[in-house]
Amino acid sequence: MRDADPAAADRIRWNERYAARRPDFAPHPLVADARAAGLPGGPVLELAGGRSGSALALAADGRAVTVVDVSDVALAQLRDEAVRRGLDSCIDCVWADAAPVLAGGAHAGPWALVLATRFWDEAAFTAGASAVAPGGVLAWEALRRDEPQDEEAAPHPYRIPHGGLSARLPSGFTVLAEQATDTTTRLLARAPGRAADRR
Ligand SMILES: C[S@@+](CC[C@H](N)C(=O)[O-])C[C@H]1O[C@@H](n2cnc3c(N)ncnc32)[C@H](O)[C@@H]1O
Repeated sequence: MRDADPAAADRIRWNERYAARRPDFAPHPLVADARAAGLPGGPVLELAGGRSGSALALAADGRAVTVVDVSDVALAQLRDEAVRRGLDSCIDCVWADAAPVLAGGAHAGPWALVLATRFWDEAAFTAGASAVAPGGVLAWEALRRDEPQDEEAAPHPYRIPHGGLSARLPSGFTVLAEQATDTTTRLLARAPGRAADRR
């Protein structure tokens, strides 16, 4: 993990939140959207998944799911719930900063689905998109930035304007859907190339 950096501060902040609030383990709606779009066979990567109900739902589908997060508290809660549901052999919890974990090695992909919800990190988005398998899907939701930017102010680091996700896709991706919700912007996009199978 990039220690003594923003990820370390995020870890402390998110650990406190996860320790204070009970999880509901509800899957994110983008999971249903990705299933409906059709995914090739193969494993799934969720970035900044926290104590992810999406990961549990995808593991229940029979997917091998890797969840990366800086919060060890969230990952412990997810692991406990996976054990309770008999899904622990399908979920790999990786305690790490999202962007660097994709840079080569065991987690570089290719992944049938790369998922991130309520998370924005431009480097992680770029690396995540590059790690999608041919014909696979990138499903991403980030908090939306609506307010006109004060030219003097630094851009909000954790938010992105609607349309900003598709604008940052590598070439060759097809946008399947891009939607603004009350507070977020959501993208579903397919990587170029033919998938061997799709389900
Ligand atoms: C708003 S929560 C979203 C959690 C989950 N994806 C959801 O939709 O409920 C943001 C998550 O990002 C994680 N996070 C923050 N910075 C991160 C980083 N640099 N790398 C990996 N995870 C990070 C936090 O620990 C937290 O779990």
